[in-house]
Amino acid sequence: MISITSVELKGITKRFPGVLANDRINFDARAGEIHALLGENGAGKSTLMKILYGLYQADAGEILLNDTPVKIKSPTDALRRGIGMIHQHFQLVAAFTVAENVALGLRSTREPLLDLAAVSARLRDLSARYGLSVDPSALVWQLAVGQQQRVEILKALYRDAALLILDEPTAVLTPQEVDDLFVTLRRLKEAGHALIFITHKLNEVMRISDRVTVLRDGRVVGSVATKETNTKELAQLMVGRDVVTSWDKPPRKSEEIILQIENLSALGDKELPALKNVSLDVRAGEIVGVAGVSGNGQREFAETLVGLRRATGGAVRVVGNAMTNRAPAEIISAGVAFIPEERLTMGVVRDFTVQENAILETHANAPLARGVFFDFGRIAAHAAQLVREYDVKTPSLATPVKSLSGGNIQKLILARELSRQPKLLIAAQPTRGVDIGATEYIHQRLIEQRNAGMAILLISEDLDEVLALADRIAVMYEGEIVGIVPPNTRVEELGLMMAGAKRA
Ligand SMILES: Nc1ncnc2c1ncn2[C@@H]1O[C@H](COP(=O)(O)OP(=O)(O)O)[C@@H](O)[C@H]1O
Ligand SMILES: [Mg+2]
Repeated sequence: MISITSVELKGITKRFPGVLANDRINFDARAGEIHALLGENGAGKSTLMKILYGLYQADAGEILLNDTPVKIKSPTDALRRGIGMIHQHFQLVAAFTVAENVALGLRSTREPLLDLAAVSARLRDLSARYGLSVDPSALVWQLAVGQQQRVEILKALYRDAALLILDEPTAVLTPQEVDDLFVTLRRLKEAGHALIFITHKLNEVMRISDRVTVLRDGRVVGSVATKETNTKELAQLMVGRDVVTSWDKPPRKSEEIILQIENLSALGDKELPALKNVSLDVRAGEIVGVAGVSGNGQREFAETLVGLRRATGGAVRVVGNAMTNRAPAEIISAGVAFIPEERLTMGVVRDFTVQENAILETHANAPLARGVFFDFGRIAAHAAQLVREYDVKTPSLATPVKSLSGGNIQKLILARELSRQPKLLIAAQPTRGVDIGATEYIHQRLIEQRNAGMAILLISEDLDEVLALADRIAVMYEGEIVGIVPPNTRVEELGLMMAGAKRA
């Protein structure tokens, strides 16, 4: 292994058109230590690490490797110096085996033929040493996401990386896979590797890191030993103010069933069963959370409920009225609001203005329309009120929606959907990619509506979100509900259910 005792970034500045992504950042990593790099979306974490990995060149500042100034020209140069990076999006060739992927770009000992047997043998050794179990002869496309990530880590270790940069590695993992990854990270640390762990999740920082540096708007706003801080303080640093993460939920007043789902089934995009006999009720004044790992039928579930996907069996009733396979417009008029997972393609019309998007779906209804004519005065007033009430940060009502941040687009969708005063809200991944500040705001609004008697079906891959908001949690695995449990259920137990290893 190439020895790295320390890497130091000094005064790193990086500008993109219109954005100062990194502003005089100081950051370092040492052998035998896990340093967490924490910050909201857009804080500048990936940019800083891409500079260290040679993908970007800094506009100013320097990098010291073992106290010596270096210029890292490219990822190949970084790897040669012992720096490896595991990206958010994997860079594997799906049709190749694990060993072939690792060997890609390496010179073999028996040129020009690749010595795959030797690669496999060394991979098995690395796997065993660091707890990265994966079969070298398996084809990458056959591997689960967590296993593909292990291949990425193995690839870096195979190339003798002494410093490993992991960019939001847990975003794609189940709780169990996160545990496994953390075992690996600890072993790597004990073996003398330096690790940089990028995340925006506070509990992960507390669990795995030795030190934490917080970025906000491209600047370092704090750097402390993990032992000496807590999630509250870190959230405060990240956002720049206090953040609420637990909510008062007075007991629900009504038993009325608003959404009733019986044995609902549907096919996925590849015509295979994606939703299998799902039964679930949501009552007035209740938030039912649907937890699960991405890709277990959640998207198909939401789409089937709102009429965007055909049910192949079962029934959906809203306030007692049969809604199975009705058109989306009919379902909406029955009192259903929808926050789609794909907000830029389904939630808004990207090229329309804030004002136009604020009235989508409602525009055929009085009082915004009179006869077939739109009342533009009222539409403008209505849009302005929503933007104000929901704190949507936009330069003007005439701004195209596509130029707003994810959090502000989501607030606009929420404002529009809730302004129709629905009986039922189906919210799919309502805060995915949204920063902590806007997440807190959206959560607050959901809780308010719950307390006012709205029925809410919250479909979310963010387990912390489900735990914070839901009155009951339904766990989805391979298109089935494998259990419905109270929100005080242990995370480990939920994790087992999410992985299909347990039913409740
Ligand atoms: N290649 C790029 N071109 C232009 N702007 C970019 C590019 N990469 C990142 N940015 C901008 O720089 C800022 C920091 O982004 P990033 O480093 O990806 O943040 P993080 O990883 O903390 O979410 C953001 O405003 C982002 O939009
Ligand atoms: Mg990033």
